[in-house]
Amino acid sequence: TQCDLALFGALGDLAQRKLFPALFQLERAKLLHPQTRILALARQEVDEEAFKAQTLERFKALLPKNDLDDAALKRFFGKVRFQQLDFGDAEGYRRINEWRGDSEDPLIVYMATPPAIYGMIGENLKGADCIQPSTRVVVEKPIGHNLESSFEINDRLAEFFDESQLYRIDHYLGKETVQNLIALRFANNLFATQWNQRYISHVEITVAEKVGIEGRWGYFDKAGQLRDMVQNHLLQLLCLIAMDPPSDLSAGSIRDEKVKVLKALKPITPDLMETHMVRGQYTAGNIDGKPVPGYLDEEGANEGSSTESFVAIKAEICNWRWAGVPFYMRTGKRMPQKLSEIIIHFKPAPHYIFDPDQKHLANNKLIIRLQPDEGISLQVLTKDQGLDKGMRLRQGPLQLSFSEAFNTGRVPDAYERLLWEVIKGNQYLFVRRDEVEYAWRWIDQVIEGWAELGLPPKKYPAGSWGPVASIAMITRDGRSWYEDA
Ligand code: BG6
Repeated sequence: TQCDLALFGALGDLAQRKLFPALFQLERAKLLHPQTRILALARQEVDEEAFKAQTLERFKALLPKNDLDDAALKRFFGKVRFQQLDFGDAEGYRRINEWRGDSEDPLIVYMATPPAIYGMIGENLKGADCIQPSTRVVVEKPIGHNLESSFEINDRLAEFFDESQLYRIDHYLGKETVQNLIALRFANNLFATQWNQRYISHVEITVAEKVGIEGRWGYFDKAGQLRDMVQNHLLQLLCLIAMDPPSDLSAGSIRDEKVKVLKALKPITPDLMETHMVRGQYTAGNIDGKPVPGYLDEEGANEGSSTESFVAIKAEICNWRWAGVPFYMRTGKRMPQKLSEIIIHFKPAPHYIFDPDQKHLANNKLIIRLQPDEGISLQVLTKDQGLDKGMRLRQGPLQLSFSEAFNTGRVPDAYERLLWEVIKGNQYLFVRRDEVEYAWRWIDQVIEGWAELGLPPKKYPAGSWGPVASIAMITRDGRSWYEDA
């Protein structure tokens, strides 16, 4: 696990908000090798002391006070060097070699930069002879804004790096409960035998955020919620729920199974748009009792933008395991709560013998909570207590809150886990090129359908669960979104 890490874009939002705090937490947990060195690269002309002071200020703002212990901070900043670099200046890359000296440890390159310059960085790293077979490269989304542009980015990266060197981040794969999906599904035969269309009626995936676009209009308005969240995070969740059991835990086996799911997704053609898809855009409303502006009144907004900040989709997977089991997904900005959860709805027992008035209760639900309060809960039916209750049923949870059950203290941030996997050289939580491409293929036809039909987004007030059409989409099938139940 000894390595050198060169981080491009060290003063950017991602590096400052997520990457340096995650690296610090790894240091605090003594997971970074004592010889590990970090080179922070940024275009801005600041000196090393100023860089460290600024990064420390961000730690103070972002991390709990108790985490900032002096010894760990000293060790961490002792590993960090800052180097100003214009990423287009091929000559300047020799400074990376100077910093490396004669180190033979693997070099990890983290490109926390816009994807448009991944190729340029690769080319300059190659020109300066910084790339060895042991080099690993971490890149962030968005890998393109459609299939064609993702090809361009992936082709450029492939000029300099082998697929086995590339770590495409989808930070949802680093979330504790997302990884637990793999353990839950494949270590518990109880679930494994039930995990198909014979026993499951439908699946819900909700990824709701309270935030709006947080000053990111320039990026977000070109992307929209479908590209920003569904193409990557929601489809990755869907894959982990729907994939067949891999034959082992290797990156290759897991990714092969995920790709099969993406390939089996039923295209949402224009004739299905009305019943399978809802686009929404928030208007002014209230979040936690405070008024917030609508999407079109956000800072820097274009009048009349028809970009969506909410999507609900009824996805279907055309294979034996999932035929006839809809996956209802919804994700949006400016929802009432920050909430990400997956709900597996099981079919009712084949023959019902209890009070007919309670029949609607009689299906089990497995609730997998990603955030907040990571945990898993299985809704089961038991008998109500008390002599006068007879055989009245009651639905209640068999609950596993990770923090309560395991008393593990803090849950590591997704970036800590992912950086740790890069350091160990394990690709299983990263996205392979063909996954990105099959996901874009499916998303592209949705976007083409929207364009063909000229579908404007439906409005929803900030602080609500999205347009009414999203509720209609699921009630049409005689179901409801979980918290509305
Ligand atoms: C990012 C999106 O990938 O994920 C953001 O670009 C979104 O728009 C964020 O806010 C949500 O991540 P998390 O971990 O806060 O659920």
